[in-house]
Amino acid sequence: MSRNKVSIIGAGNVGATATYYIAEKVIADLVMVDVEGGMTRAKALDFLHAGPQRGYDVPIVGTNDFAQIAGSNVVVITAGIPRKPGMDRMDLLKVNTGIVKQAARAIAEHAPNAVVIVVSNPLDIMCHVALRSTGFALRRVIGMAGILDSTRFRYFVAEQMQCALSSVHAMVLGGHGDQMVPLPRLTTVGGVPITQLLDEPTIARLVDRTRKGGAEIVALLKTGSAYYAPAASVAEMVEAVITDRKHLAPCAAYLRGEYGINDLYIGVPVLLGKNGVERIIELTLTEEERRQLAASADAVRKGVEELNTFYKPT
Ligand code: NAI
Ligand code: 2OP
Repeated sequence: MSRNKVSIIGAGNVGATATYYIAEKVIADLVMVDVEGGMTRAKALDFLHAGPQRGYDVPIVGTNDFAQIAGSNVVVITAGIPRKPGMDRMDLLKVNTGIVKQAARAIAEHAPNAVVIVVSNPLDIMCHVALRSTGFALRRVIGMAGILDSTRFRYFVAEQMQCALSSVHAMVLGGHGDQMVPLPRLTTVGGVPITQLLDEPTIARLVDRTRKGGAEIVALLKTGSAYYAPAASVAEMVEAVITDRKHLAPCAAYLRGEYGINDLYIGVPVLLGKNGVERIIELTLTEEERRQLAASADAVRKGVEELNTFYKPT
């Protein structure tokens, strides 16, 4: 049986942490690629040294040679700069477009059958760059954000309820920006919607904290952005694809009419499996939820229009 292979482009905070979390799942051989070759080799060696204690037994390569991603089932793009205090995710647009384009071209050349998971910000726009610069089928290029935004919402709900984290499930739709759309109606504790457990002002406060969850960490950290929860979210997606689990989770997927949105990446529930997005799940939304999703989509569309003023796929 051939072994699974996962490559991570960008071995910084998110990329290296995701590599570590995926290693602990023991589901694939791993390659980390970064322009900083020495740092990447060092992190790979350090992970290997921890293997005997942490119980994972998979090859992990650190390199600056993109050709080493050849044969990957999944390639994750985390290359790019993170935001600093005072910066919006859109402030990263120009520089990260160049970096994600380079990564996408390398994937098209060396790993033409891979499923691509995009992480670099501004996330929804970078998905468009990865899609166009790989030339891959729509379902094989997916963005990571909804799982992260949902896990933050789950944590805030559990903290408020003083209940087990594992009892809370949440759904956050929309673009990975301030206009994301947490859905309290579909966020549950042991199957009970939080709209039956918490009052409206409390829910509004938790929704607002979720929307600003990334910024809260940037302001505290000062040198970059969050990486443990983002890396855990990447690992969840990688595992779903590698194990062909048909896992339902919110991810940035390319919509062609679903939710009344056309030709745009935006966060919606999908089934994740070996082909990437196996199915887009179309929820019946209330009028207000639909309005919020449309507003979030408008913000992403503006970003794509800005991208189109300077970006060429090849
Ligand atoms: P980081 O600065 O720690 O790591 C980025 C890495 O990319 C660095 O090691 C750098 O050397 C590498 N890199 C730069 N240009 C490259 C190239 N052309 N090829 C290969 N590697 C290259 O940043 P961090 O914290 O890991 O964040 C990475 C990106 O992920 C940022 O854009 C950040 O905003 C985004 N992000 C997105 C999240 C999401 O929910 N979608 C969550 C967290 C971060
Ligand atoms: C976050 O939400 C930086 O987008 C990243 O933490």
